[in-house]
Amino acid sequence: MEKFIIHGNTRLVGEVEISGAKNAAVAILPATLLIDGITTLENVPNISDVKIICKILSSLGASVTWTNEHTVVVDSRSLNCTHAPLEMTSKFRASYYLLGALLGRCGDVEVGLPGGCNLGARPIDQHIKGFELLGAKVDCEQGRISANAKKLTGSTIYFDVVSVGATINLILASVLAEGTTVLNNVAKEPHIVDVANFLNTVGADIRGAGTDIIKINGVSKLTGNHTYSIVPDQIETGTFMIAALASGGDILIKNCIYEHMDSLSAKILEMGGKIENFGDSIRVSSSGKIHPTNIKTLPYPGFPTDLQPQMGVALSIANGTSIINESIWDSRFQYTNELIKMGAKITAQGKTAVFEGVDHLIGAPLYATDLRAGAALLVAGIIADGVSELYNIHFIDRGYEHIEEKFRKLGTKIERVNE
Ligand code: EPU
Repeated sequence: MEKFIIHGNTRLVGEVEISGAKNAAVAILPATLLIDGITTLENVPNISDVKIICKILSSLGASVTWTNEHTVVVDSRSLNCTHAPLEMTSKFRASYYLLGALLGRCGDVEVGLPGGCNLGARPIDQHIKGFELLGAKVDCEQGRISANAKKLTGSTIYFDVVSVGATINLILASVLAEGTTVLNNVAKEPHIVDVANFLNTVGADIRGAGTDIIKINGVSKLTGNHTYSIVPDQIETGTFMIAALASGGDILIKNCIYEHMDSLSAKILEMGGKIENFGDSIRVSSSGKIHPTNIKTLPYPGFPTDLQPQMGVALSIANGTSIINESIWDSRFQYTNELIKMGAKITAQGKTAVFEGVDHLIGAPLYATDLRAGAALLVAGIIADGVSELYNIHFIDRGYEHIEEKFRKLGTKIERVNE
């Protein structure tokens, strides 16, 4: 097991390059299984979740080759298995995308019930309801989920909750179905649009991604020999924007999409930060004086739950009292216990946390409880007085590529060492 040793009191200054989006990559890689051909994906983040999904695709018979650090070539012509290894799939969340992709391509699939970060209950009832409406039979037993169908037929599906995973999974299952599928009350995150753009590039007919209703006209096949570049990571971009604000720093964040950051930008401006838009890069600077604000997490274009813990760090040193209401996940305030060890004054109960800003945080031994909590605690260690040790950093490696190198280039003294 590795840990970070972080020397605090750092004002982050310089440039950082954003990687491809984790939550797009972990959907687009399974989507390549729908194609009876070769697909080249560029701007693929080199993170552990992506490496696991590549291993799973290989275990199903696809040929997966990294041609450089960020380019993956998948040849799905050799796909010869629809039952994914349970021990690999049950460890991480995005393995549920194999359900839609393999059901769509082969009419048969089995995976381990998806695991992932512990953020509270993570049901997949909306995925299952959608597959059934397309004509599949779905069974869940003994830690595995299987689905099969002789034929999938387009249908109208209304989602009871706005779900990123269910939206993408039903797109995957319906691109090769017979007839038209209409998905109502869908998620609109940038990675939803990216998955649809990818599938349209390889021959699908998906309309409306990025709005509340997506219409998919089934096609008979998707074609190989295409190259697609994955969208920049909205959450990694936001993590560095918040790090600039919280550290009183000045960071030019390159290879990102300004329009994806509207909800966060609005909050950073309210909190006293400055933002400049240069098209594909954003500069965030701050004097270090942070005004309090209130935040409610919501599906896109609302404030992302995946940036809530990072924002909690900035609010813990704001000049007054702030409230965060977490409306997506039941259990996403575990990081506040670690911030309290650093001197923060936070009262978290249920889905609400009250932050009474303190002058500064103090370095401490810190334990990441999930991916975004880990990123938030790393930022907390960077701005705190003294030295922090951050444990469980495998969570951070799931979603952030070379994170310590990126922060080192911005002036952080940080080491990755074996525990
Ligand atoms: N929900 C249901 N039933 C379902 C599906 C979802 O009730 O069938 C509920 C969930 O319990 C939750 C809400 O709907 O309250 C939203 O869940 P969603 O399905 O949108 O989440 P997800 O697909 O499991 C993805 C990201 C998460 C991110 C959420 C919300 C991936 C692999 N994961 O999860 O990312 O927090 O959307 O934006 O795309 C992360 O990257 O750190 C992360 C946790």
